[in-house]
Amino acid sequence: MADLIGGIGTSHVPAIGAAIDHGKTGESYWKPLFDGVEPARAWIAEHKPDVCIVVYNDHASQFDLSLIPTFALGMGATFDIHDEGYGPRPVPQVHGDPDFAWHLAESLILDEFDMTLVTDMTVDHGLTVPLSLAYGQPDAWPCKVIPLCVNVIQYPPPTGNRCFQLGRALRRAIDSYDKDIKVAIFGTGGMSHQLQGERAGLTNREYDLQWLDQFVSDPATLLNIGHTEYLRETGSEGIELVMWLIMRGAMNERVRELHRFHHIPVSNTAYGLLVLEND
Ligand code: DHB
Ligand code: FE
Repeated sequence: MADLIGGIGTSHVPAIGAAIDHGKTGESYWKPLFDGVEPARAWIAEHKPDVCIVVYNDHASQFDLSLIPTFALGMGATFDIHDEGYGPRPVPQVHGDPDFAWHLAESLILDEFDMTLVTDMTVDHGLTVPLSLAYGQPDAWPCKVIPLCVNVIQYPPPTGNRCFQLGRALRRAIDSYDKDIKVAIFGTGGMSHQLQGERAGLTNREYDLQWLDQFVSDPATLLNIGHTEYLRETGSEGIELVMWLIMRGAMNERVRELHRFHHIPVSNTAYGLLVLEND
């Protein structure tokens, strides 16, 4: 049977991808970040998931305002890297797992989560930066990837509770897949950041760290945080944090926190990282 071996929460700041692509990870600005990420790389190198389900948001790349799926699942065998304006990132094409994706789709939809099924899609920094953080610069990604794309761009995004419940349903789907594969799940985005407007550059270390404490030990206390609180406390893009709750919902109620790292600034955002295993 499929086995969910761990959960990784990570921001997906595009500047991190650019630093990797342009060989800047050893520079004084970037070294503290990449040193802090190293234990996550070591964990994934040791445990070698066959498939990573990457919960992320598309940033008006594949989906624009003409089509806004709340939850979309990538069903394809391959996903090309989106050109976000500077040419596609020089990273390997992403390979999917259509058999597993169709199993997840059937299980989730019959479990009353009405996913949008996308058979042909590109992926942007929301998905590729977490892969680069986890794996560096391989010639080919060492795992298959199932993109789970969440709308956090156009109001109204899903609630934290809905995301957590989707994670629970995803776990039921993983647990009922009859192939012996190791699965990891990524929740990406966040942490506190605002890219635009009067409060551009806002970060909130104290709020982020408290949120991470609750996320690990008592996620139920996060499920009713409303969009206004996220906006006020974590800036206009901090709502990306609800995607981490899909990962958390998929994990056991009790988890082991193997690694935590929080770092400001990354570009003009707060970077957060967690590596969790089921207890
Ligand atoms: C930026 C973009 C993101 O999607 C994000 O999650 C954080 C930062 C940026 O453009 O700096
Ligand atoms: Fe983002």
